[in-house]
Amino acid sequence: PEKVDEVKQWVTSVRGQVVAERELQNPPPKMRPLQPGFIDLPQKLLDGYKRKQDASELGKVLRLAQQLRDTVDRVVILGIGGSYLASKAIFDALCHSHHNELPAKLRMGKPRIYFEGKDLDNDSLQDLFELLENTCVDPDIIEERWGVVVISKSGGTLETAAAYRAVKGEAAKFYGPKSEMLRKVIVPITGTKSSKLRDLCRADGFPEDDILTIPEEVGGRFSVFTAVGLLPAAVMGLDVRAMLLGAATMTRRFIEEPFDRNPVLQFAAVNHLMTERGKTTRVLSAWSRKLEAVGWWYDQLLSESLGKNGRGATPITMVGTRDLHSRGQQHQDGTRDKLINNLIVRQIKHPPVTLGMSERNEDDLNQFSRKGLPDILDAAIKGTNEAYSQAARPTADITLPMISEHTIGQLLQMLMLATVVEGRLNGTNPYGQPGVEAYKANMMRALKATPNLPKGEVRDAAKGV
Ligand code: PA5
Repeated sequence: PEKVDEVKQWVTSVRGQVVAERELQNPPPKMRPLQPGFIDLPQKLLDGYKRKQDASELGKVLRLAQQLRDTVDRVVILGIGGSYLASKAIFDALCHSHHNELPAKLRMGKPRIYFEGKDLDNDSLQDLFELLENTCVDPDIIEERWGVVVISKSGGTLETAAAYRAVKGEAAKFYGPKSEMLRKVIVPITGTKSSKLRDLCRADGFPEDDILTIPEEVGGRFSVFTAVGLLPAAVMGLDVRAMLLGAATMTRRFIEEPFDRNPVLQFAAVNHLMTERGKTTRVLSAWSRKLEAVGWWYDQLLSESLGKNGRGATPITMVGTRDLHSRGQQHQDGTRDKLINNLIVRQIKHPPVTLGMSERNEDDLNQFSRKGLPDILDAAIKGTNEAYSQAARPTADITLPMISEHTIGQLLQMLMLATVVEGRLNGTNPYGQPGVEAYKANMMRALKATPNLPKGEVRDAAKGV
């Protein structure tokens, strides 16, 4: 405690460094890669839209999203890592918990959403094809038509590329190999530099204006507020501008506010200090199931940004109270290597489910008859924090007033900014992920050494393209 002022000053000075990095044209080799483009992007996109409307980058995203919504009832989103987790986090947090099961009337023009290309799971992909084929009764009926969003910044990630080849083959069978519809129902999102995906789409006749671009200066896991997260969000019928506004507001707070009103600096400071003091397992405890995928997104952000050179906290996501009945024992009583970041939502969306009175009261719950599930959850949060505190297990709270496009925009931007600040605090370059390359090279070598399947017995992914 006697060092708090010192810490505040130090973290605030590191903010100055992160802010200045945005202007660096030619960073020294040890700072490369340097991809601070995500910091100002939300405001830039909003300004561009205000000036140029449909002709702006955001306008283009909204146009293509609307075109997809008008044309299909199911959208398969292909991507992995930063090209998957952002849209998954947004979907789970902001769409109806049973979105895909809702009848079309209740979805109000919002297509069903499926995620693929995020692993190499043969059977799951075949299951999806079965579903899409089973609906292939008449491709003129919108409820049976489906489309694809393919996302890869490098344009060469094997998982996504393989899935795209297979899914494109299915689409060609569905609409016909030469159908104009193919270019209407497929939206590619890729980087500018030597992207094979871009080459492929050009060769397939996509107009340049229909290929969305991930800016070079924005890293994969920092790309949620590029087309990577925004196009899927718009397809899901979400308020993309509110999300950007939330993110831009967080950037402004980060740059302008003193430490005591600055959630980015506070989160970075607490997490950095705790990691340095041996709390190397960082638990994101989401007190809403809808935020679990935000936790998975943060798992990737933290792991790939700061898990370098033998250092970096190990992230884990849990959902309260579900995982109190599994990991809770370890957190309360096991190794003393954890910091628990609670993610708490203050205001619920629906009226509370209340317990009410039961005539015979066998379950003894009548004493809580006038309480709702939110009251029980509140008590669980208090009780858990108290138990951790009694056992000297550190916790920190992030509180969202509610789950909305605006607060999710703020939260994701807060976590990205804090990760960069933390990297600069401990001397780790938060950009780039050299460690991921080793498995890719080995996988390629192993794949080339694997015997081919006998011809005729394989489902030829490219057939019909
Ligand atoms: O953060 C990153 O850059 C990575 O996690 C990428 O998002 C992931 O590897 C996918 O790469 P790409 O979009 O090039 O297919």
